[in-house]
Amino acid sequence: KIYPVILSGGAGTRLWPLSRAVLPKQLLPLVGDKTMLQDTVLRVAGWPGLMAPLVVCGNEHRFLVAEQLREIGVTPLGILLEPVGRNTAPALAAAANYLRAIDPDAVMLVLPADHVIDKPVPFAEAVAQAATLVADGALATFGIVPQAPETGYGYIHRGAPAAGASGASGAYQVDRFVEKPDRASAEGFVADGAYYWNSGMFLFRAEGYLRELGEFAPAIAVAAEAAVRLGYRDLDFCRLDEASFSSCPSDSIDYAVMERTRHAVVVPADIGWSDVGSWSALWQVQQGRAADAQGNVQRGDVYLDGVSNSLVRAESRIVAVVGVSDLVVVETPDAVLVAHKDQVQRVKQIVDHLKSKE
Ligand code: GDD
Ligand code: MG
Repeated sequence: KIYPVILSGGAGTRLWPLSRAVLPKQLLPLVGDKTMLQDTVLRVAGWPGLMAPLVVCGNEHRFLVAEQLREIGVTPLGILLEPVGRNTAPALAAAANYLRAIDPDAVMLVLPADHVIDKPVPFAEAVAQAATLVADGALATFGIVPQAPETGYGYIHRGAPAAGASGASGAYQVDRFVEKPDRASAEGFVADGAYYWNSGMFLFRAEGYLRELGEFAPAIAVAAEAAVRLGYRDLDFCRLDEASFSSCPSDSIDYAVMERTRHAVVVPADIGWSDVGSWSALWQVQQGRAADAQGNVQRGDVYLDGVSNSLVRAESRIVAVVGVSDLVVVETPDAVLVAHKDQVQRVKQIVDHLKSKE
C-alpha cells in the first residue's frame, strides 16, 4: 500500500510579502482557488491503491492544515506535528516510523506541499513506474529534465537502466546525486545531458528509508524513532515528543541520504513540474493558465494600463500600475513589494534583513 506523505513545513521566504512564517506559501491559494496543500492532496486523491494522506507540519500550523483538509473533504490518516523544524530528513523519519507501526510494508509517496504539476496523467504513470522498483528497498526519485543551471536544486546523474523497469519512460539507477551544486558544476550537469533535476518527490518503503538513514545519519534515525514512540495522539494529530525531536540534528533527506545511498533509482518525469520557488516562477507557471494577452498575471483589485509581462497582486487595497513591463508588484496590508521580475531571487534577502532588525 502506498501512503502519500505531505511535507508542509517550509517558509517560502522568496514569496514575501505574501508568504510569511504564520502563513507560508503552501497554505496560500497561489495558483487557482485552492491552496497549494489542497491541490497537492487532491492531485493524488482517489488513485487506486493509495491510502489517505499523512501530513507533516509545524505545530503552529495544525489548525490551518486540519481546516484546509476539512474544506476539501479529505480525512487524513494523521497529521504529524513537529515542535520545531528540523528539515526534511527528520520529518520523513518520523513519518516512516509512524507508518511502519501501522503497516510494516508501507510505501511512502513523499510530496512537498508547495509544487505545481500540470500533467496529472504522466505524473500518475511515473509514480506507478516507481512503485514497481522499490520492493527491495530502493529509493525512487523523479527526474526533471533541467532547463537552466539552477543551483537551488539537486542533480541526479543517471546510470544503467534499472532492473525491472517497464513502460515508455524507463528508469535508471542513480549514479550520482549532487544537492545544490555550485554554479559551474550546475552548468556542466546541464550541458552533459545525462543529469536530471531532483523534483523533491520520492517513493520508497518506510523500512528502506529508515535502513539508509540508520546507516548514514543514525542520530536522526534514533531521535525521530523516540519522537514518535514518546509522542502522543490527540484526534487526527500526533504530537512528536518535544525533547526527542528538538535534540534531533537538522538535515535534508537530500544531503543526509540521497547523496550517500547506493540504492537510488530515478524515474524521468515529464509532468509540467514547478516548485514555484519565486515570484518569477509563479508568473511563469501562470502563463497559458491565467495570464492576459499582454502576459500579465493579476489577482485582486488591480488596474493595469500599458503593462506587460508583469505579476500584480492586491490583497487589501486597489493597486494601479501604468506603463511598465516585467514588474512584480505584491500588496498586502502591512507590506508592499515592487521588484523587477528578473531580480526576484533577492527577495530572500529582504526577509533576512527584516529578521535581523527584530
Ligand atoms: N514538515 C516539514 N518539516 N516539511 C519541511 C521541512 C520541515 O522541517 N523543511 C522543508 N519542508 C518541506 C518544504 O515545505 C518543501 O515542501 C519540501 O519540504 C522541500 O523543502 P525545501 O526547503 O523547499 O527544499 P529545497 O527546495 O531547498 O530542495 C529540495 O527540493 C528541490 C526541488 O524543489 C531538494 O529535494 C532538492 O534536491 C530539489 O531539487
Ligand atoms: Mg523547495
